[in-house]
Amino acid sequence: MHYFNTTDVDGFSKLYRLNMINSITGFKSANLIASKSNNGDENLAIFSSVTHLGSNPALLHFTLRPNTVPRDTYKNIKETQVFTVNHVSAPHFEDAHHTSAKYDEAVSEFDQTRLVPEYKNNWYAPYVKDSPISLGCRYLNEYEIKENGCLLIVAAIEQIFIQEDLLMEDGWVDLTKGSVMAINGLDGYTLPQLEKRLEYARPKQINNK
Ligand SMILES: Cc1cc2nc3c(=O)[nH]c(=O)nc-3n(C[C@H](O)[C@H](O)[C@H](O)COP(=O)(O)O)c2cc1C
Repeated sequence: MHYFNTTDVDGFSKLYRLNMINSITGFKSANLIASKSNNGDENLAIFSSVTHLGSNPALLHFTLRPNTVPRDTYKNIKETQVFTVNHVSAPHFEDAHHTSAKYDEAVSEFDQTRLVPEYKNNWYAPYVKDSPISLGCRYLNEYEIKENGCLLIVAAIEQIFIQEDLLMEDGWVDLTKGSVMAINGLDGYTLPQLEKRLEYARPKQINNK
């Protein structure tokens, strides 16, 4: 076993620390956040921090890095209040990764990749065509993480698109049927395989004899 304490971690190079700390909390979801400015400029960027925040009401949150450089996703969301979250499937992961490149605000990542914008249900922000799961989200609030200047964005899930064969009778969504990718660290993409679903866990009977 390797062992590291805080002093060791503080002494790592920036890249080594970034790689290690981004990997050790586990696999993360691969999501493309699409948005559009008031001027009509589309934007697309990959995020690994999208997580549900409760199902009633249906909420999610994601983390934005500190606004020390222009952040188009944040700017568009603040301007228009809406965005979409789109899962990354296996055929799209290299293009999805490329959306993390720093392009000028006027350049759409849709034009720099084979990912295609799709407008549905009068939602101002574009969806990503052929994404197996897409969510239309509305900005609700933001919280500054004082420890590092990141922003935690809270949003309502208002529109849900799920590819037909992924949705089971009880509402459970089989991500593996959509070849939905997960992220290991910041650049390792992996395709999870379902072992099995388990029963709702209840305490075992305690045998007092
Ligand atoms: C795998 C991966 C995951 C990422 N996750 C996040 C994230 O959760 N939050 C964040 O602020 N940036 C994240 N990024 C960086 C953004 O994709 C990148 O800063 C992008 O240029 C932001 O685009 P924007 O300026 O158009 O909003 C991630 C990058 C990669 C490669």
